[in-house]
Amino acid sequence: MKVLITGGGGFLGYRLAQAIAARGSLTGRDGTAQKVAGISLLDTAFPANVDARFKCITGDLSAPGVIDQALDRDTDAVFHLAAVVSGGAEADFDLGMRVNLDGTRMLLEACRKLAAPPRLVFASSVAAFGGDLPPVLDDSTTPNPQTSYGMQKVVGEYLVTDYTRKGFIDGRSLRLPTIVVRPGKPNLAASSFASGIIREPLNGEPSALPVPDTTGVWLLSPGKVIDAFIHAHELPNSAWGVNRVVNLPGITVTVREMLAALGRVAGAATAARVTYQPDERIQKIVKTWPAGFRTDRALALGFKADSDFEDVVREYVKDQGLRI
Ligand SMILES: NC(=O)c1ccc[n+]([C@@H]2O[C@H](COP(=O)([O-])OP(=O)(O)OC[C@H]3O[C@@H](n4cnc5c(N)ncnc54)[C@H](O)[C@@H]3O)[C@@H](O)[C@H]2O)c1
Repeated sequence: MKVLITGGGGFLGYRLAQAIAARGSLTGRDGTAQKVAGISLLDTAFPANVDARFKCITGDLSAPGVIDQALDRDTDAVFHLAAVVSGGAEADFDLGMRVNLDGTRMLLEACRKLAAPPRLVFASSVAAFGGDLPPVLDDSTTPNPQTSYGMQKVVGEYLVTDYTRKGFIDGRSLRLPTIVVRPGKPNLAASSFASGIIREPLNGEPSALPVPDTTGVWLLSPGKVIDAFIHAHELPNSAWGVNRVVNLPGITVTVREMLAALGRVAGAATAARVTYQPDERIQKIVKTWPAGFRTDRALALGFKADSDFEDVVREYVKDQGLRI
């Protein structure tokens, strides 16, 4: 079993690589567990001291020849996570189109040429939805993205579905909620604040909240989304049927509730490090995102959400080895 993770140097891609390595096996085309013989990571940059078990390919997936360096002819599993994230794709239209759209198509074309169709799990996003939305979305809500990033994710889903229908790959697309708490530095995602208002105060630093505290966020923890990527891969082809896309489960939490949970875990003084500094650019993007879902299909397929936000904060504190 050979595995490729695009975006494998990123937040979720690298965690996924570690989780697959720890697990040691994945389900093969014949439905039996197969030992993972190699994990390749493709990204433009990698963290320092990358685990020596991984083969790292540094390059732009949308540049000619780069994917071929990363994809062995007998690759069985592909997790496609490389992307220019929401704020970045909105700020640089051409870059977003090249990486998120052209890069995805190039990857699918390369998969088509492999010895046998690989299972491919694509990281899509709830940014697929936008415009006039019902208060609670469900599996029948039509995507109507209001950002270039959201559009690129929806087109990616359609490509994954059609390449699957043609038998070129066995594809599965997951619409991810916002993943909180993300460690490290803020990134260009418009949702970056949702992690920043927990992470920075826990590090003893101030944090700017760009949206009103009544804003609801549909979210999932890093631990649960890594479980979801692996579960999506492990489900048999027949479980997906003709519908290759699923809205992952999550929980809806307002910023006010997030700060209250932070206060309960780390004290009111920690939560008070967050101050409201309105940012119209961020508000405009976040306003287009849905905050409430019914995810019946995902739950029936065995995907799982976090139980509550306090647990999410506690998971982060434990993962980072923070003393509070
Ligand atoms: N984290 C979230 O809240 C969230 C929510 C919805 C969807 N997603 C999706 O999940 C995936 C992983 O997100 P993440 O949070 O780990 O983000 P991330 O930015 O940490 O990871 C994305 C990786 O893609 C890489 N990349 C960008 N352009 C590339 C290129 N041209 N060639 C090769 N690699 C390139 C980046 O260097 C980065 O390491 C992305 O596709 C993202 O759109 C994430």
